Amino acid sequence: MTTADKLNLEKLDAPLGAEINGLDLTKMLSTDTVDAVLQAWYDNQVLVFRDQELTPQQLVDFTAQLGEPGRPRMPSQTVRDIIPDLPPEIMIVSNVRVDGKPLGLAHDGEMWFHSDMCYAEIPHTATLLYAVDLPSEGGNTMFADMYAAYDNLKLATRDRLEGSKALQVHDYKRTERPGVDLDLSKIGNFAHPVFVTHPETGKKALYVNRLMTARIEGFDRQESDALLEELFAVGEDPAIIYEHVWRPGDLVMWDNRCITHARTDFPHEERRLLRRTTLIGTEAPR
Ligand code: SIN
Repeated sequence: MTTADKLNLEKLDAPLGAEINGLDLTKMLSTDTVDAVLQAWYDNQVLVFRDQELTPQQLVDFTAQLGEPGRPRMPSQTVRDIIPDLPPEIMIVSNVRVDGKPLGLAHDGEMWFHSDMCYAEIPHTATLLYAVDLPSEGGNTMFADMYAAYDNLKLATRDRLEGSKALQVHDYKRTERPGVDLDLSKIGNFAHPVFVTHPETGKKALYVNRLMTARIEGFDRQESDALLEELFAVGEDPAIIYEHVWRPGDLVMWDNRCITHARTDFPHEERRLLRRTTLIGTEAPR
């Protein structure tokens, strides 16, 4: 039996991703099913589970069946004050403000392509996002296939950058490039290879993104900027992107080692609230 048969899996009508139907994620899954979900995730990079009804704890419990859940790097005290029993593994992704304070990092409107925690030495491998409140339009999440981006690069560019590292920073501006004169003592940052090899699939992926990659080491600023623009153009080619239009109850899980993601704009006065968990990594990208 193939993974697709075991899981009732259908490829999305998109360059990547698959939808898994018929699994109730509030239930403990068998070891075989967990293995099949992980294999489907390696094969498809983004998995969509529709119509789930998950409490925050059930989201954590599902995540924990797949690996070790991570914790938000900068837990929001506002969230903890308002929802004291929220499991510590959950981050709220929302534009909602309570008494003027955002429930988390400012999650209003558009956000450029990035890879979660790429500025850490050992980034979290998976992000799982569960939709609770959604705006009437927009706020879609776009997923770009970084294996395809690597494959689509000019050979001369690949040769030039083989072995190079790029500085990834957490200089959180949503729709702006990282600043030029960064004070690295104040922000999360780490230099990772421009091209990484996925430890499970053995495939090579482009590992830079517009929001968090500040520069490529070993090149002057002008050269680095020009190279990055070339890489971003390939990495944001619509031909390698799946745009997820959320429905309440969707759980989407993606692989930060071979996917970048971005969010489209949405009406700022409307509520958007999702709950996020992650799986920790065990090694630095290489
Ligand atoms: C994120 O980039 O972590 C959030 C994505 C989203 O809000 O769709």
